[in-house]
Amino acid sequence: MDKKYKVLVTGGCGYIGSHTSIDLLEKDFEVVSADSLVRSKPFVADRVREISNKPFDNYAIDCRYEDELRTVFEAHPDIQGVIHFAAFKAVGESVEQPLMYYDNNINSLITVLKLSEEFGVKDFVFSSSCSVYGNADALPVREDTPFAEPESPYGRTKVISEQIIKEYSINSNMRFILLRYFNPVGSHTSGKLGEIPFGSPQNLVPVITETAIGKRKSLTVFGSDYDTRDGSCIRDYIHVMDIADAHTKALTYLKDENNEQQVEIFNLGTGNGVSVLEMINSFEHETGVKLNYTMGPRREGDVIAVYADNSRSKERLGWDCKYGVSDMMKSAWRWEQRMREEHI
Ligand code: UD1
Repeated sequence: MDKKYKVLVTGGCGYIGSHTSIDLLEKDFEVVSADSLVRSKPFVADRVREISNKPFDNYAIDCRYEDELRTVFEAHPDIQGVIHFAAFKAVGESVEQPLMYYDNNINSLITVLKLSEEFGVKDFVFSSSCSVYGNADALPVREDTPFAEPESPYGRTKVISEQIIKEYSINSNMRFILLRYFNPVGSHTSGKLGEIPFGSPQNLVPVITETAIGKRKSLTVFGSDYDTRDGSCIRDYIHVMDIADAHTKALTYLKDENNEQQVEIFNLGTGNGVSVLEMINSFEHETGVKLNYTMGPRREGDVIAVYADNSRSKERLGWDCKYGVSDMMKSAWRWEQRMREEHI
């Protein structure tokens, strides 16, 4: 039997990293995770094993530090591909603590790149974000849409990371894919895994489910006077299962040498812009739970509207979204209830 292709997933116990690891394992990749667990929980690795029914080990190391990450590569010198998720992602926190964001997100990328090259990794997939586009002039955004100023230090860490990878690639033997996620939401179809908020979540869907379950008294819609169809902001929400599937397809694309350039970029969004009020209505409709919400002022740093042109991902990766907003809401609600049952 052919030896399996081994992938190092950094941040494999995080929200997108864990869902992607399951998808990779189910598609017969071998997966090793390096996750410091500062923003995730150790039991997630157990869930990944349970759902996939495959071996999956997490090394609780900090990817910024070469000596720590080296232990993982030394234990697995046959790693062929890397998917680098490990990063902080809270926009508000990045405004309060920019140095922490630059230190963590940039230094871990540098160390992961260095050791990947040293250990002969061929394929490298990086988690970027639609936040690189800032308040783009033209919608939907394409991969070649020029960047506006990033709205937060978090967004800027992604702009800088993409730049580092492009510059680094010139003298590198690796091939790279940058995946720009829009707004990943929802939870695993098994019902056994989802996003585990760190502290008090600020993202819309966890705020909705926490309000519905009573962890919060109410939810505020940030802004009702934007120039959009109902005055609230517009985003491209995408099911985490579709995001996970796109990673497996991206890695397979590199593995099969289907890439035309050394660095290729793909938007991961559904292509549908959905407003905050539409999200609230969908949640109420799908779950039958009424949300206590009020209209409030705009949130600093929010872009007005952003959604993806995903035609490149569909054409090149052979990927498409299987899930819509109603699935996202039902699965997010199921996971919120599950967390209460299990005291997570
Ligand atoms: C941002 C980034 C995204 C990043 C994500 C990680 C942009 C365009 N997007 O998403 O790349 O991956 O952070 O955290 O920069 N809202 C409310 N009330 C709430 C919470 C949110 O009305 O209590 C609204 C926001 O104003 C926004 C929408 O819901 O319009 C989505 O917000 P959120 O879930 O925080 O994600 P983004 O800020 O879009």
